[in-house]
Amino acid sequence: MDRRQFLRCVAVAVGAPLVYQCGVHRSTDRFVSQDGLLELSLTAQAQTQTVGDSSAEVLTYNRQLPGPILEAQAGDTVRITLNNQLETPTNLHYHGLHISPQVDDVFQQVLPGERYTYEFQIPSGHPAVTAWYHPHYHLDVARQVFGGLAGPFIIRGELDTIPELQQAEEALLLLQDFDASGQQLHALGKKWGREGSLLLASGQPKPTVAISQNGLLRLRLINGSASRIYQLQLQDHPWFLIATDRGAISAPTPLDTLRLSPGERAEVMIPGQQEPGDYRLVNLPYNRGMGSMLASLGETVEQMAGVVQPTHTTLAILRYQKSSHSQPLPLPKELIAVKPLLAPMTTRQFVLNHGIGGGSTGFIINDKSFDMNRIDTRVKLGHVEDWRIVNKASIDHPFHLHTNRFQVLERNGQPVSLLAWKDTVSLKGYETVTLRVRFEDFVGRTVYHCHILDHEDQGMMGILEIS
Ligand code: C2O
Ligand code: CU
Ligand code: CU
Repeated sequence: MDRRQFLRCVAVAVGAPLVYQCGVHRSTDRFVSQDGLLELSLTAQAQTQTVGDSSAEVLTYNRQLPGPILEAQAGDTVRITLNNQLETPTNLHYHGLHISPQVDDVFQQVLPGERYTYEFQIPSGHPAVTAWYHPHYHLDVARQVFGGLAGPFIIRGELDTIPELQQAEEALLLLQDFDASGQQLHALGKKWGREGSLLLASGQPKPTVAISQNGLLRLRLINGSASRIYQLQLQDHPWFLIATDRGAISAPTPLDTLRLSPGERAEVMIPGQQEPGDYRLVNLPYNRGMGSMLASLGETVEQMAGVVQPTHTTLAILRYQKSSHSQPLPLPKELIAVKPLLAPMTTRQFVLNHGIGGGSTGFIINDKSFDMNRIDTRVKLGHVEDWRIVNKASIDHPFHLHTNRFQVLERNGQPVSLLAWKDTVSLKGYETVTLRVRFEDFVGRTVYHCHILDHEDQGMMGILEIS
């Protein structure tokens, strides 16, 4: 490892122009690019770790849970060496980065004991985003991510030049759930998408996130769970959405609850203008379409590793701290304009379905289960397309596209009012969503899939060739 690139959180807090809130990352490294280069290695390995109150077998990058925070600027070069110390093949996917699928290649295999170096440049006009990295080795993605393999990847760009954001403090919470029972995953956990009852935010149960009185906190949220859908609420405290998966929205928008399905990210701003004290960030019980199935199982659910009942859980505590701000820091009025994409040249349909409860067991898109050797969709570089995603199933399926960002136009035939850049969109049972995408900058083979990773492993994925 290059020592110059190895920056502990504390060092960053001293040296950087922005004020970082490092409280929740005490045990986590932060690698920040220097002179246009972000260089590091990530060692994936199994280890026994204290998770919450119990000790569990987890999978980590560099012995940390979650993996280290990576941070680069638009235009920077990134060189990451993955050192696979797991017993199974793995690889890395850079979820949320607009880079070539020839580098961000989910078909790459890094065998146990091997190293592989990913090198790429972040395009110079890349939006400021909260992205993340995680393994994408087909058939084993859910197990590896559920084991803990995930880490944040922050790209700084135009959004970071807005004066109000430069004055803001920052924090990040990567949300994960774990099964601490030590039992073998139940077949239903695999089928529906495994969940654990132990919820950790950046590796800790209920961490404290500091906010300065009269200050402004920019909080990044990443759903790094394999299957769990979060329904977040900051209790008794205002908060404002400022960015979605692929960067800023046009202006801060007041939020009530924030739903994040696996893979989705959000950035929120929290003005420190309430009565000083503690406020809870909670996860409200959310039924992803299995309510009746769970009810029919009754108490036996407790014995099924990977299957959990929705509960109300406190994820983190927002804690006021005295500060020298005598006047409240204002929210920015405007962020970065989101321009609507032009009219599409082609319209396609993707039907999501599976045989839960029925005769077939496959998880399918347009009647087909994933095949590594089949190209499902061919598109042209530069073209705009509308994709109608139809969920014919009774349970939620978050649809994710690699490489390019999209805008969600319609949900169940109703126009979506918030114009935003996304790469993952949630669909409840029987919902239909229309998204618009422009295939920009890169040719090659990439994928789209359900981001409930057990569904992806069981075939709910397709190959897209851009030429
Ligand atoms: Cu985060 Cu293909 O996914
Ligand atoms: Cu992705
Ligand atoms: Cu799914």
